[in-house]
Amino acid sequence: MSLVNKDLLTKLDLKKIKNILGKERYQHTRYVLKSAVKLAEKLNLNQDKVKIAALLHDIAKSKTDKELKLLLKDSQWNVDELEAAITPILHAPAGAVIAKNEFGIEDQEILEAIRFHTLGHPKMGKIAQVIYAADFISEDRQFPILNTIRKEIERDFELGLYLITNNIIKYQLEQDNFIHPYSNDLRNKLLKRSD
Ligand SMILES: [Fe+2]
Ligand SMILES: [Fe+2]
Repeated sequence: MSLVNKDLLTKLDLKKIKNILGKERYQHTRYVLKSAVKLAEKLNLNQDKVKIAALLHDIAKSKTDKELKLLLKDSQWNVDELEAAITPILHAPAGAVIAKNEFGIEDQEILEAIRFHTLGHPKMGKIAQVIYAADFISEDRQFPILNTIRKEIERDFELGLYLITNNIIKYQLEQDNFIHPYSNDLRNKLLKRSD
């Protein structure tokens, strides 16, 4: 049974979220929420689920590497060796653990959206796609290609997702970072679609 109902969002402890995130990260979260709600309206998705996922997506971001690894020990999320080595992205699966354990979120679509908001995943659902995209296009981010992507994603959601994934991968290449197969497989899937 889905735990998302009319009152889950109102039961969500916003004060606790604000305290954990701190001022700056909460501001970012508000911007992600705004972008996510807009996309969710367009795609006709469950607004409550999208809002909860947006509010909690970075909930583990201030944890230390040690705390993140502890949170992920015995969790439902399979974090492979490569992902474990890229510590800046571990707040995503660890955030899903906190969402479940500390905020009582059982809904898999919400948890999956938090879990995959950094790497993406070829099989992630629409809510997860929206959070992944909203985190990238949120108003607090500014770099040259972003305005084009914001316009494209309004017009064609999947094309926008493809552009976002491309840019994330391009950036990782420039930084000489690993490219996780989840991101690569997501890009290939979206590219195939636009053939
Ligand atoms: Fe994040
Ligand atoms: Fe974020």
